[in-house]
Amino acid sequence: MIDRRKFMKYLGILAGILTTFPSRLARAKALALPLEKTKQLQSVGGSVILKLKGKEVLFIRDTETTVRALDPTCTHKGCKVAFIAGENRIVCPCHQSAFDPEGKLLKGPASKDLKNYGAKLEENQIIFSMD
Ligand code: FES
Repeated sequence: MIDRRKFMKYLGILAGILTTFPSRLARAKALALPLEKTKQLQSVGGSVILKLKGKEVLFIRDTETTVRALDPTCTHKGCKVAFIAGENRIVCPCHQSAFDPEGKLLKGPASKDLKNYGAKLEENQIIFSMD
């Protein structure tokens, strides 16, 4: 039998684990890329494809305060898409599917959005998650 004092102690420990574990897990999955490491993203309209953790990632600097990180693999037949700054959209060179800078499908033949890695700009770092 466990006494009330020990029960309250264990309950406090359990509450601490449950409240801190999810935020620690979220931080562990997040990746940070210093903005200064990518000259292509220094100004609005810039884009670059980088290979990270064995996967290619398309980074787009679409406004002063936002950067996007997307899987550049077209959801139609897998060609590599490219950001067209003058049109503010992503285009696939194979069959001309088009996506907005967040990866939302604008025009087929692709039928799905590009995978978005949820990037945000914080203190001159691009924070995103590839999980
Ligand atoms: S592979 Fe991209 S539109 Fe066909």
